Amino acid sequence: AGSQGHISVVLLGATGDLAKKYLWQGLFQLYVDQIDNGHSFSFQGAALTPQEQGQTLMFDALKRLSCSPDIFPGRCTLLKDQFLKRTRYWQLKTAEDYISLSRDIESSVRKEGIQEAGRLFYLSVPAFAYVDIARHINSSCRPKPGAWLRVVLEKPFGHDHTSAQQLAKELHTYFLEEEMYRVDHYLGKQIVAEILPFRQRNQQILDPIWNRHNVERVEIVLKETLDAKGRTSFYEQYGVIRDVIQNHLTEILTCIAMEIPKNASNSEEVLRNKLALIKSLQPLEKASAVIGQYQEYNGQLREELQKDEHHFSTTPTFAGVVVFIDSLRWDGVPFILTSGKVLDERVSYVRVLFKHRVFCVQSESQRDSRSSQCKPRQIVFHIGHGELKFPAVLVSQNLFKPILPEGSWKEVADLSSHHLYGQPLSDYYVYRPMEEKDAYATIITNIYQGKKDAFITTQNLMASWHFWTPLLESLAQEVPRFYPGGTENRNLLDFVISGRAVSFVLEQHLEFMTSDQY
Ligand code: BG6
Repeated sequence: AGSQGHISVVLLGATGDLAKKYLWQGLFQLYVDQIDNGHSFSFQGAALTPQEQGQTLMFDALKRLSCSPDIFPGRCTLLKDQFLKRTRYWQLKTAEDYISLSRDIESSVRKEGIQEAGRLFYLSVPAFAYVDIARHINSSCRPKPGAWLRVVLEKPFGHDHTSAQQLAKELHTYFLEEEMYRVDHYLGKQIVAEILPFRQRNQQILDPIWNRHNVERVEIVLKETLDAKGRTSFYEQYGVIRDVIQNHLTEILTCIAMEIPKNASNSEEVLRNKLALIKSLQPLEKASAVIGQYQEYNGQLREELQKDEHHFSTTPTFAGVVVFIDSLRWDGVPFILTSGKVLDERVSYVRVLFKHRVFCVQSESQRDSRSSQCKPRQIVFHIGHGELKFPAVLVSQNLFKPILPEGSWKEVADLSSHHLYGQPLSDYYVYRPMEEKDAYATIITNIYQGKKDAFITTQNLMASWHFWTPLLESLAQEVPRFYPGGTENRNLLDFVISGRAVSFVLEQHLEFMTSDQY
């Protein structure tokens, strides 16, 4: 061990929520997974909190690290001890602090008696701190030539096209494009990460039907039950479209609709095809979206930001947007992107619904004997939560039996017979991952492996903002529809449908929108 060089990981924001909940666990997992492959690691947690206090906070959080079930308890304790021995806390504030950090890294590398392989800086800090930190890393913490530098950034990456461009420009004065890893944590979710490989593996069957002739519509949904309490000052600046639709839901849309790369392991080709797809999205109009706000929002906002009773915010906490793609393959197929806070359930999924008529004509025997209607045919990428408690891929049995990689996925047969996504569960082939992995564990592995297509490049980010900004601007003064929150919103899609956005779609797809498939 040790022959491949030393890797230093610096986690800025080491005592923050994200770090405590996911990042340290992900880094520990990386350490455990890679311990035998010849790298040596050191971990530096950093924050603005003074040394002693920060150290206590951070090591308290580290006590909760856990191992995967296949590691027996004795070994787990040993691994944790080793990990903690390789971990330090730093108060990182001034230019001198960054210089000492870098010196310390150099001296640990020397002590190991090996080459330095690389330095990974994970910025889990508010976006306003990025540029300052970037400057310090660039001027004091770069490794010697031959070793890599990777800088990981968490959203928000700007607020609109102009601010995103400005931020990107500043970051580019300090880092090369290949050094930056912009995280979209949805790309680390097992089911989202499986969309493209799934399409690839089942290409023979999917290729002929993955188009406007056969796909009725695609729903991309992220429903949440939580409100914005405690973070209204952040939420107020962003709203639901910037918070989750411009990034998470757009990334999912891309995975569904992009052309499959010839070579899936070629990150550049994957990113190129993604970019081409984003650029082919039809410009949105005001009428493409319906926005809502949960009734309590303004009250919570006034309380938290200490505003008087006349203060009134129109920030949307719910949005349904219908997106069309300008391509021969997808012309006229609505992609309905929906997300909101304080809804009836927490769930995220993509549902690709195939046209009835096409399939019914092909096979009369597939008609539902009770209703003499065609049974729906769909593929659902159930990303998480919801009634189905585990992430899964569901394919209507009357569509085809999918292929998923053996060894990491298993078919689930003994499911109760209730309805999910407009179909009894027993009508689907259901596959779930053998082992559930946290999105951040995957993200950290992807950074370590340099898997660039699992992150957001500057070009793709700009294309996405270019697409969303005009809509955001046109909605800026729009008063949202108010919704009560909670289970009263069970019929969320009715809400979307009754809004203007979907009325256009509704005209074209009346049969489906009004059927009991919702
Ligand atoms: C984050 C948003 O990016 O995603 C949050 O800022 C949102 O507002 C969250 O709640 C949803 O992610 P998940 O993984 O909980 O579905």
